Formats: sequence, structure tokens, C-alpha cells
Amino acid sequence: MSEPQLIAPQFTGDMPVGLPPWTYRSAELLELEYERVILPSWQFVCHVNQVKSPGDFATLDMRRDSVIVIRGADGELRAFANFCRHRGTKLLDGSGTCRNRIVCPYHGWSYDLSGAMVAAPSPETFPGLDKNNLGLRPVEMEILLGLVFVRVIGGGLGLKEIWGDAVRHLEPFGIESFEPAGPPNAQVWNANWKVAIDNNLENYHVPMGHPGYHRLLDLDDANGFMNQHGVAGSMATVRQRLSSNWSERRYQKLAPHALADLPEKLRKTWSFTIMPPNFGLDIYPDSMDIFQILPLGAETCQVRYPLYVRPGSSREQEVLRYLNWRINRQVTAEDRELSERVQMGMGSHGYEPGPLSTHEICLKDFHDRIRAACPVTLLANSPPAGQMRQINARMATRH
Ligand code: FES
Ligand SMILES: [Fe+2]
Repeated sequence: MSEPQLIAPQFTGDMPVGLPPWTYRSAELLELEYERVILPSWQFVCHVNQVKSPGDFATLDMRRDSVIVIRGADGELRAFANFCRHRGTKLLDGSGTCRNRIVCPYHGWSYDLSGAMVAAPSPETFPGLDKNNLGLRPVEMEILLGLVFVRVIGGGLGLKEIWGDAVRHLEPFGIESFEPAGPPNAQVWNANWKVAIDNNLENYHVPMGHPGYHRLLDLDDANGFMNQHGVAGSMATVRQRLSSNWSERRYQKLAPHALADLPEKLRKTWSFTIMPPNFGLDIYPDSMDIFQILPLGAETCQVRYPLYVRPGSSREQEVLRYLNWRINRQVTAEDRELSERVQMGMGSHGYEPGPLSTHEICLKDFHDRIRAACPVTLLANSPPAGQMRQINARMATRH
């Protein structure tokens, strides 16, 4: 029998406290989180404008699962598990266009663009083969404002219910019409996925951690929102006072002319929105990026951040975008460094999580969701090796 386990404090005084540090370093917990948090949640794959024509496809690779989104000959967009029904080979990589078949690179089984199995080489060696039962496995898919999401373990709330009225905050930006700006950027960070998410869920670190953003933007939590499903957002305004930094100052000066065709308010609004567990959407007047953090190892994660631009842009808008990307490249580098530093501190002997500010309310909401999905994270210390799953199951029946 194992020792009785201590429950970690969730508050100190009236202030909430984050998850215990062991939860940011455990490979066994990562498996549970992957199955209980990532796979049953909506995961972003691509923008509809990346899969416009029949045969166009995009894939999303997660820890063990990969999903294909592909436009059929009938114009329908569908999602499938990215494995062959013969012996499981991964079928497609990245994104591109299939002529009219998806052909497995192993033995050559083929599927049409609607996922139906078409043929297997040497069909006489498969007596009684029922092709109707060997099509690609469908995966749940929904589209929100032109953004395509899939859910490997289906059955939860739809995107409409999860977003509710929050979607109104995004509607004025017209992101359905945005076009991809090159292949999606991706980086591996030396931090547990939750460290990178935590970092993306609060603006409290901006004045210290992102001096450029702080010079450029007025981030006011007062206009923030969060609904009961954790969809949250805030808007920032580009400051009037010119920054001392070259790119930021140029951006401030150029934006009013380059964006003259946009309503005045949108011209200077930077909008930051998140959907649990791992999706962020940053909309700028000139472009937008998506920030999706996927678990990789116990102390590594993958950060996907594809960029999109408004269609039909002028030369001035292109310059503006270039400046924006310079500014945001710097911010991403800062976030990466800060996240990796958190990971280092988390692993130190004697570290106990400190209190969270009211600016870190989304972080608390995220941790509560992890606690609900994986009650084992309520424990102050990691369960003994090999016992995570049983202890979690036992605790789940109690909570
Ligand atoms: S695994 Fe795909 S054809 Fe054999
Ligand atoms: Fe940041």
C-alpha cells in the first residue's frame, strides 16, 4: 500500500496558488494530460483559406496523433485520423494538395478525397475484403470564423457553445478572409506545455518581461472578458506617445496611413484571445497569429504559431506587417526565455508556488481545469512511479 498523499494548497490567504511543481516535470502526468485534456479538446489545424480547392490538405501533428483536414472533390472539408487502415502508417505530412487519391507510402492502399478506401494492391490476397469498412477514420471537425478545429476524442461541447457571445469580440476583424503568410512557424521550447500556457494567460509579466510591448501598447485588463468555458480576451491600444525603439516608432507612425481603410478603433487595437486548453489568437490591425502549445515531453513543448494577413494589402501595409513581425519575433523570444527560466526554477529543491495576482485569473482557471481533468494534480507530491493512473482514477471517483 502506498503512503497517504498530501493535498497541495490551492490558496494562501485569499490568494490562489498554482499547481504544484511536480506537475510540470512528470512524464506520467503528461500522458494523462494528453489523453484527458488535449485529445478531448478542440485543436486548431489551419485556416479554411489554406484548404480552398479539392485535394488541398493540412495536417496537425500532436504527441502521438496526427489529423488530416482535406477538401473533397465535392467541395466539402473533412477531417480524418492520419493513419492507414492497413497497418497504421502515417499517410500525409505538412500541407499540400493530393491529386485525387491519398496513397499510403507503405503498400499503396489508396483512399479518395472523401476518405473512402479505393484499392489495395494484390486485391486477390485479401479474400472478402470489405472496402466499405476500411475508409479513413473520421475525426470531429468544426469551423469558427474560418478557423478549422478538430477533436480526436469527440463528444464534448461544440465551438459555438464554448465561445458563446465571446465570438462577437472577434467578428469586427473579418478574420475569415485572412490568408496564410507562409508555412506555420514552430519551435520546441524547453518547458512543460503548462509553463508556456501559463505565460500566455496573463499580462502581468508585460511591463517587466516585454519592454517593447510595454512601450508600444496600453494593456488594460479592465476591458478583458472571460466566459464560463474559459474563453477569455483582452484588447490593447497602440499608444499615442512614440516609442524610443525604431521598429515600434515606425509602426506607430505608419499605422494610421497604412490602415486608413479600417475603422478608426480597429486601426490601433491589438486583440488577444484564448480558448482552453492551449489556443491563443492574436489579432493585429495588419495581420494575426495563432499561438498553439502542444505537449511534447515532460519538460519540452511545441509552440505552433502560424501567421495570417488581410487580403489585398498595399505596400505600406506590407511594411507595417514587417515591423509588427519584428516586434512580435522579439516578444516570442522573450516568452520562450521566460518560460524556460520558469522551468529551471520549478525543478529546484525547495520551490513552492507563490500566490497569484488578480491579473493571473486566467491562469487559475486553467489550473482548475487541469485539476478537474486530472485530479491527481491536487496532490502536493508526485505519486510513486507507475501509480499515477490508478491514483488518478481513484481520486476521480471521489471528486
Ligand atoms: S500500411 Fe498502408 S498500405 Fe500497408
Ligand atoms: Fe509574454
